[in-house]
Amino acid sequence: MKKIVGIFFASAALAVASFDANAQAPTSDIPADMNALMSKYTCIACHRPNQRLVGPAYSDVAKKKYSTEEIVNLIYNPIPAHWPGYPPMAPMKQVPKEDAVKLAVWINSLDSTPAPGKKAGSSKGKGKSKSKSSKA
Ligand code: HEC
Repeated sequence: MKKIVGIFFASAALAVASFDANAQAPTSDIPADMNALMSKYTCIACHRPNQRLVGPAYSDVAKKKYSTEEIVNLIYNPIPAHWPGYPPMAPMKQVPKEDAVKLAVWINSLDSTPAPGKKAGSSKGKGKSKSKSSKA
């Protein structure tokens, strides 16, 4: 009996592993700390930095030039009308503000086209709004 159970779990693990390996969207271009957050809050199921999945590529989100604060708000209250042709994203209210800010700053950093007036050096963007202490 024990053996059968063992085999069952082994094949279940295998199935999961091969599913992972078959995912057409690599996660190798996600920094480890962001990968951890995206996994924890399941963003990774639908988003990649440079590839459309269920949701838009973060690099495409970055092109919209939201502020950090705006992205944080969109994580909590998505506006599906921003992305015609995509299913609506569910509000991700379980993400603590601190982590939402980290994700938002990273998402914004993925815009490869430097906008006039947006200096590459000032990566903090509108830094002051960043540390508002309204913890959700
Ligand atoms: C179940 C799939 C799914 C998950 C999980 C998910 N998203 Fe999305 N996301 C989408 C889709 C689809 C869109 C486009 C439609 C929309 O905005 O409602 C989107 C849009 C976005 C946008 C663009 C908002 C805008 O209005 O331009 C951001 C930013 C974003 N997601 C961040 C995240 C973050 C961060 C997480 C994890 C905390 C996350 N998403 C989890 C599917 C998902």
